[in-house]
Amino acid sequence: MDVIPVSLAGRSYDVMIERGCVLESFAASAGDYLTSYRTTGQTEARKVPIVADTNTHRIFKTAIEQSLDSNGFCADWFVVEPGEGAKSWAVLEQLTDWLLELGITRSDNVIALGGGVVGDLTGFACAVLKRGCGFVQIPTTLLAQVDSSVGGKTAINTRAGKNLIGAFHQPVAVLIDPLVLDTLPDREMRAGYAEVIKYGLLGDAAFFNWLAENGTDVLAREPSTLAHAIATSIRAKAAIVAEDERETTGVRALLNLGHTFGHALEAETGFSDRLLHGEAVATGMVLAAHYSARRGELSQSDAERARQAIAAAGLPAELAKLGITCSGTALADHMRHDKKMEGGTLPFLLLKSIGQAYLARDVELSDIAEFLDAQLVKQ
Ligand code: GLY
Repeated sequence: MDVIPVSLAGRSYDVMIERGCVLESFAASAGDYLTSYRTTGQTEARKVPIVADTNTHRIFKTAIEQSLDSNGFCADWFVVEPGEGAKSWAVLEQLTDWLLELGITRSDNVIALGGGVVGDLTGFACAVLKRGCGFVQIPTTLLAQVDSSVGGKTAINTRAGKNLIGAFHQPVAVLIDPLVLDTLPDREMRAGYAEVIKYGLLGDAAFFNWLAENGTDVLAREPSTLAHAIATSIRAKAAIVAEDERETTGVRALLNLGHTFGHALEAETGFSDRLLHGEAVATGMVLAAHYSARRGELSQSDAERARQAIAAAGLPAELAKLGITCSGTALADHMRHDKKMEGGTLPFLLLKSIGQAYLARDVELSDIAEFLDAQLVKQ
């Protein structure tokens, strides 16, 4: 087992990576974190509250229940529909009501079994339940394994936008089983891989180069390369989160490379399956690289290497090929609603070289709009 500590004063926890730890030996792997509540009047019940979506429930139910049963526990499921719709006030209310009815206490741990949606929803419910109970992240997509399950960002969506209601609430542990990715659709695997490339681009040129050699094997789920890619990504994220847990110093903001452009693309495509979050981030990173080159801060050849890495992974590398018909100004307008806006300006993550991202605070949205107009018609 590879154990990566996330070191935070008073809230440190481990990310544990082991092939089979969820699918083959869940109760043993999660054992230290399985608190169990007793429903009123029961003396024997050792139930474990698990939040899943209909997909993860269907895929993992048997393995998890068998493992829990043979260790004297049983699973109690709260199952949501897949997709961003579950990150809503309505589902949050149902989930917190359910947890309260179960009698979950502040020292209990709720299991979040799924992708970013389940993790964000469960984490936020646990942040507010009795002012904070524990939760264990068990991410089942590559994107959740290398990004959203680590670092304690939790949130739901509202009419005003995505992730605008939330809290920093760290899990008590993160349990990662790379084997679960064998059933992940290829498109989602690639979308998660965009966040893996991100770690190379933002701070680790050697990892970026390693991915150029080994990315095909990672995407094919070859066990040792996949484990290395996941562990390297999480080590990078753990170090950043340990330095700037609440994104106040600019260090954690590095993780937003490609996200400001990406968020505008997601907004323009209706946060739909037309463009998955990881795909939007992929195109966003190419745009960040080319915009950095336009400012003269990144060489054209490095911008091209960034583009090639995205394209080689089968991710969308050309804005002009996304089928977006709006103007650059309309895309820049989406950015005005970004929650990172500070007093009328939007800090932008740009690149000085492959492996060196920085936060630019002097970017004019009118210049971004002009740049995007040119990219929208590029052949
Ligand atoms: N996904 C960006 C962060 O965790 O800060």
